[in-house]
Amino acid sequence: MNHYKIAVIPGDGTGTEVVNEGLKVLKAVSQKCGFKYETVTYDFGGERYLRTKEVLPESAINELRTFDAIYLGAIGHPDVKPGILEKGILLKLRFDLDQYINLRPVQLYDERFCPLKNKKPEHINFTVVRENSEGLYKGLGEFKNKGTPNEVALQISHNTRKGVERCIRYAFEHTREYGRKKMLTLCGKTNVLTYAWDLWERTYYEVAKEYPEIKTDYAHVDATTMWFVKNPEWFDVIVTDNMFGDIITDLGAMIQGGMGVAAGGNINPEGVSMFEPIGGSAPKYTGKNVINPLAAICALAMLLKEIGEKEAGIAIEESVKKVIKTKLEDMAAGKMGYSTSEVGDLVVHHL
Ligand code: IPM
Ligand code: MN
Repeated sequence: MNHYKIAVIPGDGTGTEVVNEGLKVLKAVSQKCGFKYETVTYDFGGERYLRTKEVLPESAINELRTFDAIYLGAIGHPDVKPGILEKGILLKLRFDLDQYINLRPVQLYDERFCPLKNKKPEHINFTVVRENSEGLYKGLGEFKNKGTPNEVALQISHNTRKGVERCIRYAFEHTREYGRKKMLTLCGKTNVLTYAWDLWERTYYEVAKEYPEIKTDYAHVDATTMWFVKNPEWFDVIVTDNMFGDIITDLGAMIQGGMGVAAGGNINPEGVSMFEPIGGSAPKYTGKNVINPLAAICALAMLLKEIGEKEAGIAIEESVKKVIKTKLEDMAAGKMGYSTSEVGDLVVHHL
């Protein structure tokens, strides 16, 4: 029987509540599918930082390397200056564990969730492969003449051939295995950002030669946002850089039914990957048992598929679909109609 070690970082705000529902589902699905697991919980986040001034202890990264996967709730605390926790925990984990892919499926489960007119689940079903280790997120830049009228702030997008190529290659592989239309769209800005996107475009078409069965496609990032709204059915798999990927996947989350259902994976195909609901810590709703845990539950499904429990991941997704279809009528009206823990129970029940 397979046995997995999963690190759990509930993080801030509603992170704990949604992760708890995910763990409830994990317990049930492990019994159904016959695998064993142990979890170790880490308290990294705003509360710990405010108490100890420590964001992420040095030893943590190496410890986390020994797990099969990491399950993350949310990072971000209203009493901590923006950037400290995000850079110190979330981005540090992504970078240090070299999780160079951010995989974000955009799938509409039920038409009632969609803010777009006449768009059904068959119209909104694509995946964004976001580069997750470079670009503007590298944090390169400087101030010149800071605080003077002649101040200049430079923020550099750092793209390496190796970094771009491994991301594009992953995207082609993903398209080959899972793409509905076997089409990979490169989303960039070749008409203005002529250094970064020249490298991306050249690399994309070079790698494409190794995948003759995959249709190539290119869209500027601004046009991509337009098409997400106008004809999302065009897309199959999209590959893009870190910054554009961040932006378009928030729009993706909205057209698939909101942050409450959007999940993502920070993937190192050769190492330890980390899965999270892509919404934030929602301090306003913390402790109220009202936040939608489906995104966290879907992140768990992605985690299980990645570590080799495909069947368990699919079982969870099917259960989520059933819960949405049969129970959550009120969700369409913008409210869940059930508490956080009730939704978790419903997913367990339908497994
Ligand atoms: C995301 C988030 C993060 C990002 C923030 C919290 C640093 O917006 O996962 O999309 O920008 O990558
Ligand atoms: Mn984001």
